[in-house]
Amino acid sequence: MNNGGSAGLGKTDDLPHTKIMLARLANNWPRRAYVKKQELEPFFEPDKEDFLESLLPFHAMPQYQSSSPEMKSRILSCGWLMYNAKTVQIETEIVNPTCLDIIKGTMPGLRTADSQKAVCETMVDEVYHVHLVEQASRLTRHHRRLEDVVVPQFNLVRYMHQRQQEYSEPWQRRMVQFATALVSETFISDYLHLLSETDDIQSFNRMTVAAHRHDEMVHSPLFQSLAQLFLSELTETQRAAFADVLPEPVLWFADRELDIWLALLQQIGFPKAEEMIQECRKLGTADLASLDYSGIVSLAAEVGLLDSTAARDSFSRRGLII
Ligand SMILES: [Fe+2]
Ligand SMILES: [Fe+2]
Repeated sequence: MNNGGSAGLGKTDDLPHTKIMLARLANNWPRRAYVKKQELEPFFEPDKEDFLESLLPFHAMPQYQSSSPEMKSRILSCGWLMYNAKTVQIETEIVNPTCLDIIKGTMPGLRTADSQKAVCETMVDEVYHVHLVEQASRLTRHHRRLEDVVVPQFNLVRYMHQRQQEYSEPWQRRMVQFATALVSETFISDYLHLLSETDDIQSFNRMTVAAHRHDEMVHSPLFQSLAQLFLSELTETQRAAFADVLPEPVLWFADRELDIWLALLQQIGFPKAEEMIQECRKLGTADLASLDYSGIVSLAAEVGLLDSTAARDSFSRRGLII
């Protein structure tokens, strides 16, 4: 990022503590990371579903409720493929590109050896998660005969790219990417928790999600630490721009991704796909109530972003603070 002379305007009192924590997270990686452990052996249980019905945005709709058990089962398999595809897109299009920005040394405050080490390790974790998740999706596609189903790009990724295009400077585009990665890494543990402990789905699916979550429980505090170090080195203009963007990925993450659902339902021949998804849209395209975004708001408060009236307006406009 073009610093233009770093003003170091963040609240820096906690930075020694943040640096110690980052070093600890980086040094524990060889003992902690799932990539260092015995790999899961795929297996399939024919009498269990792939996904939880309660996570379908239309599970209470009459069109879904009145469909055959076979169709419901196919929809649940699509839900699992979609859940996995969202994970893969987060890893490959949001988190790892930000990690690369940091490794290239283009992000202020994140050029120290410990930051670089932690980020290199995170990239390895994320690529391993893609392997785990794709392996699970291949198993489902094979047993459910869904090899040809295509999952389009998620709004979470599309909106991030659209927002980046609104900026002309490379540092501004990297900032949008970093804010989206920070939000995604903060929310992904909760997202994975939805499936990581249930006995109502395929055990292998649950174990895959639990393995991934094991690593993400650490990525969340790690990205919070990176954000604190990054923000402490920004100029006032840069901090204002970051504060303006930060609430947006929260809404993108909460998107119910109904366009993707429509595409999948049409691919498997669900008869009233368009009508059912239209009715879902009337209930709202994002589900902010399902997300615990307090970590993002408290981070913003801790680093002093919310001291500015413009930043508070930005958060309150998106319904994140009152
Ligand atoms: Fe991951
Ligand atoms: Fe992660």
